[in-house]
Amino acid sequence: MPWNGRELGGSFALGPWRVRRAGYGAMQLAGDGVFGPPRDRDEALRVLRAAATAGVDHIDTAQYYGAGTVNELIREALHPYPDGLAIVSKVGASDARGAVLRPGEADELRHGIEDNLVTLGATRLAAVNLRVMDPAEPPGSRFDAQLAALVRAREEGLIGGVGLSNISRGHLVRAVAQTEIVCVQNLFNVADQRSRDVLTECEARGIAFVPFCPLGMPGAARRRLLTDPALAEVAARLSATPVQVALAWLLDLAPNILLIPGTRTRAHLAENLAAADVRLDDAARADLVLQS
Ligand SMILES: NC(=O)c1ccc[n+]([C@@H]2O[C@H](COP(=O)([O-])OP(=O)(O)OC[C@H]3O[C@@H](n4cnc5c(N)ncnc54)[C@H](OP(=O)(O)O)[C@@H]3O)[C@@H](O)[C@H]2O)c1
Repeated sequence: MPWNGRELGGSFALGPWRVRRAGYGAMQLAGDGVFGPPRDRDEALRVLRAAATAGVDHIDTAQYYGAGTVNELIREALHPYPDGLAIVSKVGASDARGAVLRPGEADELRHGIEDNLVTLGATRLAAVNLRVMDPAEPPGSRFDAQLAALVRAREEGLIGGVGLSNISRGHLVRAVAQTEIVCVQNLFNVADQRSRDVLTECEARGIAFVPFCPLGMPGAARRRLLTDPALAEVAARLSATPVQVALAWLLDLAPNILLIPGTRTRAHLAENLAAADVRLDDAARADLVLQS
């Protein structure tokens, strides 16, 4: 794969894969509200190709991003996929009306994986996350059955690894007692650290932790995070941007964190990948205590 030789924050295991820590989340490539096609299709394709050219070897997606649109863009931009490219998807939510619904039953999860393979034009995904609807709901037999559906898909070679998303530490502990888990994707960023216990558990077990919304949940939370005075001050001191410091804070926090920030533009993609070159010092770490 042609790339510019940057390390992109080093690498970490994603099951049998080893990926660079600065990756890319493709959700923003759908239309507004994650519906339909993007506003600028050509730029979406260019963003994906620029990511691959820059050395990104971990792309996060979902069949329900734009109802297949994002997977089809990934296919158009990058197929045939280079050997080292880990495409990770998720099942358990629906795109019926753009809303995230409760995880489906085992056969729906299986169909969800197959739909991803078709739209991506792939025979195997590096990993698929079981997306849990409510992390506060204690895991029980339904969770076990859903997990078993992903384990079967792994045994049949459709996916390389099983991941979890939007989970509590309880889900993780219950899941690892049943099978190998290669990654966990939870909401986590410098202003919202409610998943800290899950991150810690992942780190102790050598499981990749992949924060979604690393720049904050859309809306007020993201605006607050990106305009936080502490972030701006540290950014100015380190000659970086606030976005880069928010991402560098994650890379600095634990070696098992893999980044998948999302963007529709090559300019933001370049800015986000360059966050891997930003080094925090002790003063920055101490100053980065943001209001959630
Ligand atoms: N498992 C789950 O339930 C779940 C949920 C949500 C997301 N995800 C995954 O996580 C990935 C990341 O989350 P996310 O995309 O929701 O949130 P995010 O990466 O925290 O933020 C994306 C938003 O920030 C903006 N942005 C990105 N880079 C920027 C920059 N350098 N300067 C200014 N603004 C910038 C983007 O706008 P522009 O397009 O204008 O750059 C976009 O609006 C998604 O792509 C998806 O793959 C998973």
